[in-house]
Amino acid sequence: MKNFVAGIAAALIVFTIAGWLYLELGFADLRANLPQSWLESKLATTALNASVVRHAQPQQNPIAPTEANLLDGARLYRDKCADCHGRPDNPVSDYGASFNPRAPQFMQAHSRLRENQTFYLIKYGVRQSAMPAWGNIMADSEIWQVVTFLSHLDDLPPSIQQELHQPAGTNP
Ligand code: HEC
Repeated sequence: MKNFVAGIAAALIVFTIAGWLYLELGFADLRANLPQSWLESKLATTALNASVVRHAQPQQNPIAPTEANLLDGARLYRDKCADCHGRPDNPVSDYGASFNPRAPQFMQAHSRLRENQTFYLIKYGVRQSAMPAWGNIMADSEIWQVVTFLSHLDDLPPSIQQELHQPAGTNP
């Protein structure tokens, strides 16, 4: 039994040193245009999902989906998010798709996160990815307006859909 435990401990030490040397000697290929390996993608997705579930406070969206809030949310999205996450006239952003991990394209597939989780991700961003911490730039009320906009992508009034076709910064 003693030898067995010593064998496991030795194997762990060898694997740890080999892993460290692999990184230290530059064998890891970190180009963004290479597909992620199955393991890398699985580890990152699992860690991100679990972290969001654990850390996002179970709060209700305080913003009502009025036309005024949806309009503000649409303008914020168009100006700050659409370059990476797509807009109706550019549903798959080449720019967003060039990151690794890629930016999800919300015009093609809506996020399956709950509203409090979406708020958390937007406010704090995602480490080691292109997703910024918008809480450094936007007020909580603005982030909730974008969350509300994203929750209503399927039933936006035509005037607000139209707003997404305007150039960034168009706020009459
Ligand atoms: C510079 C590019 C970039 C910009 C600008 C950007 N994002 Fe992101 N976003 C990303 C990337 C890349 C990810 C994927 C992160 C990951 O999977 O690790 C992401 C992930 C997300 C997610 C998580 C989606 C999911 O289902 O997992 C949400 C929500 C999100 N972004 C919303 C926004 C909003 C709202 C804005 C604007 C206020 C914004 N993003 C601006 C690049 C960007």
